Amino acid sequence: MMGEAAVAPTGAQVDAERLRAFVAEVFRHAGLEAAAADIVADSLVWADLAGVDTHGVARVPSYVERLRKKLVNAAPRMSVESRMPFAASLDGDNAMGALVAERAMREALERARILGIGVVVARRSNHFGTAGYWARKAVSEGCIGICISPASKSLAPFGSKAPLFGTNPFAVAVPAGARAPWVMDLATSVAARGHIRLAAREARSIPEGWALDRDGHPTTDAARALEGVMLPFAGPKGSALSMLADILGGVLAGAAFGGEIRDMNTDFSAPQEVGHFFMAMRVDAFMPAAEFAARMTQLIDRVKALPPAAGFDAVMYPGEPEARRSAERREKGIALSVATRAALAKVAGEFGLVASV
Ligand SMILES: NC(=O)c1ccc[n+]([C@@H]2O[C@H](COP(=O)([O-])OP(=O)(O)OC[C@H]3O[C@@H](n4cnc5c(N)ncnc54)[C@H](O)[C@@H]3O)[C@@H](O)[C@H]2O)c1
Repeated sequence: MMGEAAVAPTGAQVDAERLRAFVAEVFRHAGLEAAAADIVADSLVWADLAGVDTHGVARVPSYVERLRKKLVNAAPRMSVESRMPFAASLDGDNAMGALVAERAMREALERARILGIGVVVARRSNHFGTAGYWARKAVSEGCIGICISPASKSLAPFGSKAPLFGTNPFAVAVPAGARAPWVMDLATSVAARGHIRLAAREARSIPEGWALDRDGHPTTDAARALEGVMLPFAGPKGSALSMLADILGGVLAGAAFGGEIRDMNTDFSAPQEVGHFFMAMRVDAFMPAAEFAARMTQLIDRVKALPPAAGFDAVMYPGEPEARRSAERREKGIALSVATRAALAKVAGEFGLVASV
């Protein structure tokens, strides 16, 4: 049975809402309940809107493959254990990472609403996409949100040529009044591994300093970099932050740590066993929300009023590039690469759907 053509490009671009509906349909066919499929689709299309293409719908094929191989549980029953009122441990029951992250941040926000702060660690999870999407969930509730996760090993600790940490993302989101939220959302590698995977798929080279090949030599060849190791940003500093992600989202969360997380694209022997760390903290626990918003606006205004350096048109604050791209792509549509379109069409075809991507 062939389904409807689910994604129609508007010119060279794909409309975000149509893409979201298509991705949700794919995940429903892969076994997710409708509400769960919507949560996953929202998070992926949000990444494409924000320009984080490495963590957007390009991930659909590998997510679907793990669902099909029963390495991710399509019908999870998550459970929450709370030893102290402000804190909770979530057992994700090997659900898709987006579903674990959504539930964990919801639990943290519920605690923050009552107590001013909520901290949730999650275990038995999977890759959840961008950390910033989950941290941002706190902002509309008047909270500062934090989302941190270890990932499968690909990054050499400072001074080593062997991988142990992941590209372990760190995200902090802060309400910023009328402006788009301030959001620091970064891989602890020089660049996210997805950039290298995308470059390899599109036969592009990568900048020097991102990675070492398997012999420990610097390389600009994306394929060789994928066989080798990623480097932490800022040497020992990025290495320390990456290890902290392993501590909070692995050791403390009761999840895999120290190189134990399975690679979602290459290891199909068992579930990934990813853990995460989430925190939500109410701004009005410290000062009225309006006063905080005014002070944040002042800070951002001061940053943006600075004269741009050579090669820059304007000074932006963290989260601003994503907000700008999102506004533009919401209006003009999302330009998907040829490789991503082909991969989506293939997955859709396997479910008897036609995707004109
Ligand atoms: N789930 C996982 O296992 C995993 C692993 C690694 C990375 N990731 C995700 O990959 C994504 C990409 O990470 P990245 O390190 O490549 O991000 P990036 O380098 O694109 O951005 C990092 C930060 O810098 C800010 N920024 C970028 N350009 C700026 C500018 N011109 N002025 C001011 N601020 C600017 C951004 O707003 C962002 O907060 C993130 O969303 C991260 O969560 C996920």
